[in-house]
Amino acid sequence: MKFAPRIDRVQPSMTMAVIEKAATLRAQGIDVVDFGAGEPDYGTPENIRDAAKRALDAGYTRYTKNTGIDPLREAICVKLKRDNGLEYSPDQIIVSNGAKHVLFNTMMATLGEGDEIIIFSPYWVTFPEMAKLTGANPVIIRTTEANCFEPSLDEVRKHITENTRAILMNSPSNPSGMVYSEETIAGLADICIKNELYLISDECYESITYGAEAISPARYEDESKFVVTVQSMSKSYAMTGWRVGYAAGNKALIGNMAKIQSQSASHANSIAQHAAVEGLNGDQSFLKSMVAEYEKRRDYVLGRLNDMPGITSGKPEGAFYAFPNVSSYYGSSYDGKKITDSGSITDFILEEANVAVVPGGGFGNDENIRISYATSMEELERGLDRIESALQKLN
Ligand SMILES: Cc1ncc(COP(=O)(O)O)c(C=O)c1O
Repeated sequence: MKFAPRIDRVQPSMTMAVIEKAATLRAQGIDVVDFGAGEPDYGTPENIRDAAKRALDAGYTRYTKNTGIDPLREAICVKLKRDNGLEYSPDQIIVSNGAKHVLFNTMMATLGEGDEIIIFSPYWVTFPEMAKLTGANPVIIRTTEANCFEPSLDEVRKHITENTRAILMNSPSNPSGMVYSEETIAGLADICIKNELYLISDECYESITYGAEAISPARYEDESKFVVTVQSMSKSYAMTGWRVGYAAGNKALIGNMAKIQSQSASHANSIAQHAAVEGLNGDQSFLKSMVAEYEKRRDYVLGRLNDMPGITSGKPEGAFYAFPNVSSYYGSSYDGKKITDSGSITDFILEEANVAVVPGGGFGNDENIRISYATSMEELERGLDRIESALQKLN
């Protein structure tokens, strides 16, 4: 059977591979501690669930406007002003099926065959693959732990060619949890404005920060032209399964994204859109307490990791991931199993410690592994105890 050439260009997700391996062990009755999750361990708050029930009973079960229902686009504008200091009008907003879908629409509207998009590693696994689906070439710029995984603006300037169309940034970052400094964000905005490039800002974790402020690059644009602000209900409101994300940007670009969406998914789920209105307009105390709990977990995880010999980890200031460097174990072995890279150490941790973590290789950074702390303190303690004892076996 023949498939479209684009299929061969795209890699399956490494995160999924870990989930599958962990599921196989579980099916054998093995108790696996899961540090692989990319979603809150919280349920959606009651007020949001109640709003969905009301929407269902009120009969909001028909097609909606392609770009999203008016109350939601209005609520998004109020939220962007309140939480991010950004001025947008509802006609500059499009609602889609999660930020992933928003990013896909953005790339479909801005990138063509042979175009280049600059992406910083470590990156969220989907970024380069999604770019490839549009026919564009991802240009990866490595960032370093020494620089808190922030891109060097000089490096960015050096990588701009006549084919560059966009730069993609993600702060707070999945997988590193790092939050970019004001200087870097303003610098990236300046580069994009001067070179007439889109700056696609994935702000999925903007509300989950610990002391640091997640600044939107759109703050540095007087009139919305090049910056596309992408946010999501998924992580902030524990609504991953509802599939609601949105973009704010230049009207012409949003119009073109709407055109693509109208010929593919049409719009986000009607009930989920009504629930999202309540999420954005309603009581925000859930978010505060969730973030406070994540911060405690982050401190615990970092303390434990940095106490383990051979592991170093910078201090993530956002999201719910730690991204420790484990490369000092490369070259060691146990029971005939040699550790050579992030994939083999992840396999070792899964098989010997029965803890699922994600290899950094999938995020373009092979020295590290990703540990999600979107799980209970008890699970964190259990899993970290197991990792610590397993690593002691390596020599
Ligand atoms: C950096 C990043 N962007 C986008 C997404 C997609 O989120 P959504 O559920 O809104 O599609 C994720 C989900 O893990 C993510 O980590």
